Amino acid sequence: MHAIAIERFGGREELRPAELPEPLVGPDAILIRLAAAGVNPVDIGVREGRLQQAFPTFFPLIPGWDAAGVVEAVGPSVTEVEIGDEVFAYARKDFVRDGTYAELVAVTPRHVAKKPRSLSLVEAGAVPLAGLTAYQVIFDALAVEEGETVLVHGAAGGVGHFAVQLAVAAGARVIGTARARNHDFLRELGAERCIDYEHEDFAAVLGRGQVDAVVDVVGGETQERSVEVIREGGRLASIVMPPDRDRFAAHDIAARYVFVRPDADELAALGAMFDAGQVRVHLHAQIPLDDAAQAHQLVEAGHPHGKVVLTIP
Ligand SMILES: NC(=O)c1ccc[n+]([C@@H]2O[C@H](COP(=O)([O-])OP(=O)(O)OC[C@H]3O[C@@H](n4cnc5c(N)ncnc54)[C@H](OP(=O)(O)O)[C@@H]3O)[C@@H](O)[C@H]2O)c1
Repeated sequence: MHAIAIERFGGREELRPAELPEPLVGPDAILIRLAAAGVNPVDIGVREGRLQQAFPTFFPLIPGWDAAGVVEAVGPSVTEVEIGDEVFAYARKDFVRDGTYAELVAVTPRHVAKKPRSLSLVEAGAVPLAGLTAYQVIFDALAVEEGETVLVHGAAGGVGHFAVQLAVAAGARVIGTARARNHDFLRELGAERCIDYEHEDFAAVLGRGQVDAVVDVVGGETQERSVEVIREGGRLASIVMPPDRDRFAAHDIAARYVFVRPDADELAALGAMFDAGQVRVHLHAQIPLDDAAQAHQLVEAGHPHGKVVLTIP
């Protein structure tokens, strides 16, 4: 099968077209013929070798953890989907090798849900990792409730643009930080208030104890200073670095790190929210599979509106 693979860790030039054996269909496998693969910042980390300590890694390595396509074959134990179903998947495994920058990927039922009817396959391929992350932050880690005020840092990016919409769907009032040129985009997503992090100090603008919960996709000083704006009894969830829990606890704030996990039920629930019109995906760029290096360049530049996705012919 045709794929994009790397033979060693390194720069974008390592991403090369390759002809590799088709995945085997084991007893629990769902073989997907891919139409699209979302590109995420973690793919850059995988390519550069920054995740070697976390995952057994093998070469040639096909990057990519996001997928959408059509079920081509299923193993004998699989009852969740059938050949011909359109699906989307968060295809992160316990090892790194057989990713989604390819014509075919084999996953298991825990990775997969039926594609939302309202999304094209290309749109659906951009959703799973960032969408599930936002879902697990808003509904699991923060358990956002109606009437709360939620501050989303990095609100215009892949995870952020979903987090804004999911918090709005939960009934929250959302404040987003982003560059000024992204503020119209944030308002379209439902944010009530936007803060230009380049020229404004969000903690000074908001004042002490003004928000119930913070979504942190930025880390560093942004995370540290969030302590100033969260009320006593409030929460923070970060997806970039584990917070200093003691420091937050001293202000009666529950702070935690979230690492997104594959969860077929939650992916299906997220898909239902697309079909109910509560969430949409914004595609920053659609790029053909063989130009994956260009897609990595866009993601590395770090200022997307929404998602970058590879299209797979
Ligand atoms: N733990 C997990 O499971 C998990 C899951 C997904 C992602 N992540 C990590 O989370 C981070 C974000 O992922 P992503 O896919 O959303 O990335 P992304 O699409 O590149 O978005 C990042 C956003 O951050 C904004 N930003 C940069 N500096 C900022 C600052 N100082 N204040 C406010 N906003 C700022 C940028 O917005 P502007 O364009 O407005 O500058 C950009 O839109 C990455 O580090 C990724 O690796 C972790």
